[in-house]
Amino acid sequence: MPNSRKEKFCEQGKCLLLVLVVVVAAIVVPCVLTLTDKDFRMKEKSLPELEWWKTSIIYQVYPRSFQDSDGDGTGDLKGVTKHLDYLKDLGVGAIWLSPFYKSPMRDFGYDVQNHTQVDPLFGTMEDFDELMQEAKKRNLRILVDFVPNHTSNESVWFNSSRHSVGKYKDFYIWTDGINCSNCIDTNFKKPPNDWSSAFRGSAWTYDDHRKQFYYHAYLDSQPDLNVRNPDVVEELSNILRFWLGKGVDGFRGDAIRKLFESQDLQENENGIQNLTRNLPEIYPIMQKWKSLLDEYAGDGKEKILIAESYGISNEMRDSYYKVDTIPFNFAFVQKLNRTCGARCIQNIVVSSLDGLKTNWWPNFVLGSHDVSRIADRMETYLVDVFNMLLLTLPGTPTTYYGEEIGMRDTFYQFNESRDPAGLNYKGDYLQHTRDPERSPMQWNSSLNAGFSSGTPWLHVNPNYPLLNVEKQKSTNTSTLSIYKRLAELRQHPSFTNKKIIFSFVNDNIISYVRAEVDQPKFLVVMNFGSRTSTANCSGPPVVAMNGEVVLATADSLTGSSSYKLGDTVELENIGLRAGEGIIVKI
Ligand code: NOJ
Ligand code: MG
Repeated sequence: MPNSRKEKFCEQGKCLLLVLVVVVAAIVVPCVLTLTDKDFRMKEKSLPELEWWKTSIIYQVYPRSFQDSDGDGTGDLKGVTKHLDYLKDLGVGAIWLSPFYKSPMRDFGYDVQNHTQVDPLFGTMEDFDELMQEAKKRNLRILVDFVPNHTSNESVWFNSSRHSVGKYKDFYIWTDGINCSNCIDTNFKKPPNDWSSAFRGSAWTYDDHRKQFYYHAYLDSQPDLNVRNPDVVEELSNILRFWLGKGVDGFRGDAIRKLFESQDLQENENGIQNLTRNLPEIYPIMQKWKSLLDEYAGDGKEKILIAESYGISNEMRDSYYKVDTIPFNFAFVQKLNRTCGARCIQNIVVSSLDGLKTNWWPNFVLGSHDVSRIADRMETYLVDVFNMLLLTLPGTPTTYYGEEIGMRDTFYQFNESRDPAGLNYKGDYLQHTRDPERSPMQWNSSLNAGFSSGTPWLHVNPNYPLLNVEKQKSTNTSTLSIYKRLAELRQHPSFTNKKIIFSFVNDNIISYVRAEVDQPKFLVVMNFGSRTSTANCSGPPVVAMNGEVVLATADSLTGSSSYKLGDTVELENIGLRAGEGIIVKI
């Protein structure tokens, strides 16, 4: 602006006005931001900003069973993409996809034939790219399954290994076995030891071509890789690089505890399984993979590696944390049963958190594609309080698809069942089959619960006309609505804090406080018993006479709750019916 015009502008008093506007804006804008923007508020209070995976719910999708988009009866990647809005709305932050890689499907995808190809049953790589893009748009993270312990016996690697081709010769665990001197056929060979497969029988299978035994912790069609071979590790690392290149946010590492076996094949395990599980060589290899992931991390883009780590002591847990991964905490999966009441649940929580170092982040898992659903493992009426427990405990929760609507296990006759873990045990297959928890997601009350227009690979639970997403969306006391509100509430800094302080606990009731400095406290009170019970939570750590109900579960039959949102509750005398839970703001 030429000088003369500038002077004219100021002469007219406009100059002063402009200065005034700038000053007012400088005061008002930050104030408005402070009140509306959560992150801003957190910075104001100088709370540390947490990495995305510390504040996210992980939601496990078993792609076969989530949504079929092409009518072949099997769920697929396009089906997952279709429901991203649902998942966003549910309040989950990350989606872990069980394997969708090229596979002969003997173990439904956990027998990988090619780790960097999409099996046609699940769609195409373009479908995956689209899923990634759509997830990113919604700020949803994607975790994929990484299966480093074994491959399919139909993989190029195994076929090459059977034929001792080049570097593949030692890709698997091969051994000659033992001569059988007292057999009719003296050329007959016996396995080298008594090590057994998770799916029944010996873990050794004789290969006629190579004339040697190979080791398999699972099915004979899932030969174990020799992860002591650097070439194998390099190939596995390349798989991670491939999916990181696609933009995934992390991995769930399958069967990590079985990565290594003793090299002394003459030793028997006698059922103790100390030679084929949790060998310490696991940690350096996990560390190597975690470092590889870190190369792909950027601001807000931390990549995570979660180990499937069953049956670990707290000491082993600590070793996992040291290599900077989260070992899945399966304490609920392994220890919950119908005899486990409130005190037992409290013990599980306490021992899970016991000794966790300051920078180690807790996590809890309630269900998966490998265990009976919570509605059947425990009492059905406890579904809401279990979701309340999972989502209000410190750390990262993992929810198995369908648990947000309280899906039940589905019964399959032996001749309808598909899971090899069950089929291998004809007599007592119900003890072993994992089909019941893998039944298709129940979206609505139309044909096949809206899962597929074709014949589902496993039939839908017959309860679907009453139990489905659509129906639960329209009632604000449903398991789904409660879940959503829990997901919202747990974003509050008092819940993302790592501490938990127990309040009143008896045989039925557990209560605890979640708090953060300079923030309101929340008291969570849940009745895991089979009858009405009363809690007195007015003493320490709460020290208050009353509080405001901010969340209350409802009776699944009548839809009624003892408490309404906004009610003032007397903390000295909190009565809760069986399976009822409330969250009170103090
Ligand atoms: C653990 C998986 O969760 C399970 O489903 C699978 O059968 C085994 N690993 C073998 O991959
Ligand atoms: Mg399909």
